[in-house]
Amino acid sequence: MKGKVEAIIGTQWGDEGKGRVVDAVASRVDVVARYQGGANAGHTVMAEGETYIFHLLPSGMLYPGKTCVIGNGVVIDPQQLIDELEELQDKGKDRARLVISESAHVVMPYHKVLDGMEERFRGTGRRIGTTRRGIGPCYMDKVSRRGIRMEDLLEPDVLREKLTFNLEYNNLLLTRIYEESPLSFGEIYDEALAWGERLAPYIGDGSLVIHKALEAGDTVLLEGAQGTLLDIDHGTYPFVTSSNAVGGGGCTGAGIGPVRISRMTGVTKAYCTRVGSGPFPTEAEEEVATRLRDRGGEYGATTGRPRRCGWLDLVALKHAVRVNGLTGIALTKLDVLSGEKDLPVCVAYSHEGRRDEDFRGGYSYLENVKPVFQKLAGWQEDISGCDTWESLPEEARKYITFIEEQTGVPVVFIGVGAKREQMIRRGL
Ligand code: GDP
Ligand code: IMO
Ligand code: MG
Repeated sequence: MKGKVEAIIGTQWGDEGKGRVVDAVASRVDVVARYQGGANAGHTVMAEGETYIFHLLPSGMLYPGKTCVIGNGVVIDPQQLIDELEELQDKGKDRARLVISESAHVVMPYHKVLDGMEERFRGTGRRIGTTRRGIGPCYMDKVSRRGIRMEDLLEPDVLREKLTFNLEYNNLLLTRIYEESPLSFGEIYDEALAWGERLAPYIGDGSLVIHKALEAGDTVLLEGAQGTLLDIDHGTYPFVTSSNAVGGGGCTGAGIGPVRISRMTGVTKAYCTRVGSGPFPTEAEEEVATRLRDRGGEYGATTGRPRRCGWLDLVALKHAVRVNGLTGIALTKLDVLSGEKDLPVCVAYSHEGRRDEDFRGGYSYLENVKPVFQKLAGWQEDISGCDTWESLPEEARKYITFIEEQTGVPVVFIGVGAKREQMIRRGL
């Protein structure tokens, strides 16, 4: 096969700037495919004087002549998808061709209710701080083999049978476990049929579309959602999302063989943020966190929640290099660090008097580590207008070189502002 596959994934706790990096690369590829997660994602693209936040649509939608695939590994809230699509259509910006995988699972209204109930049941201390988009409960139904897939929305009889079974089970959870009112079949069934009718022109076999593109010599870009530290297997379990956000998830979630992927770019914020609960070894104290949050506009693109902020964690980043097989790093939001005197970077964890350089995701371990920081010199200049490597202050170049030396991976893209043109390409 002549075509190539590359992936752009998050290396931290999400919101690294994947949307803007995908947008930057989308202009030179033919297909952009989301492969996991759902409307918990919020991918921001600032282009043509406007801000777009993609939740379910791939971040390549603005480009004419491209194909955007929502892969089988994504869980789809159809109403959210319709709203997103129509908003783009109203602006005349739905320029790419959209294909929705028929085997992607449907997030149902009761999944969203149950998401909230499960959080309540967990209580303080165990609460994950989910986005309440129904992600966990929908993946639970998928894995339990009682889920509803996009293809089912197109067949009234199949939908009736599957929804009856699925709703019966979930209503038992709602009433017997959470002591809530059950949801009624009729309303959901009618709504689901309407979703099917509206989305029918787009529903197809995503894997086949990708396969044909590759046969024709096209380039396919896999767009990850969330990040490595939120991955169900490789993240800070149990404070994670319910899918494989790592690059490997791209194979199962889009229906592509592993050897096809030739480039794996990990999007990394120049510092760290996290929304929701769970361990965060390099989290800064409130004064510093507030400064980074204000300068970086660190408020969730999906829920608007203030993001927790801290310093770059190279122990975690090296873990991301390993579990994703990163070939390059896209470093974003470097401009946000301008004005800091020193830049602490975490190079190891101290645990019970031992120095650990290898990451372990286990909660009880991570809650008890202290970051070992190496301080690098900061820079005072505004770098948001820099468009070449040479135009960056020497300290900024040293910061990047340090990351490259420590991880063994080249920094192939540098973000110096949120707008499409505010970046320095170094091979991506
Ligand atoms: P994603 O979920 O990984 O796509 O990231 P989000 O869109 O949730 O969050 C990233 C935020 O940072 C968005 O508001 C982007 O507009 C913004 N952003 C991305 N890259 C840069 C950059 O290089 N500099 C600055 N200042 N902002 C950026
Ligand atoms: P993007 O793609 C940041 C977090 C939630 C919560 C945990 C589980 O924009 O980077 P879930 O709703 O998935 O069950 O919540 O994961 N989370 C994200 N944090 N960016 C995201 O997506 C996220 N998607 C989920 O805050 O801690
Ligand atoms: Mg986001």
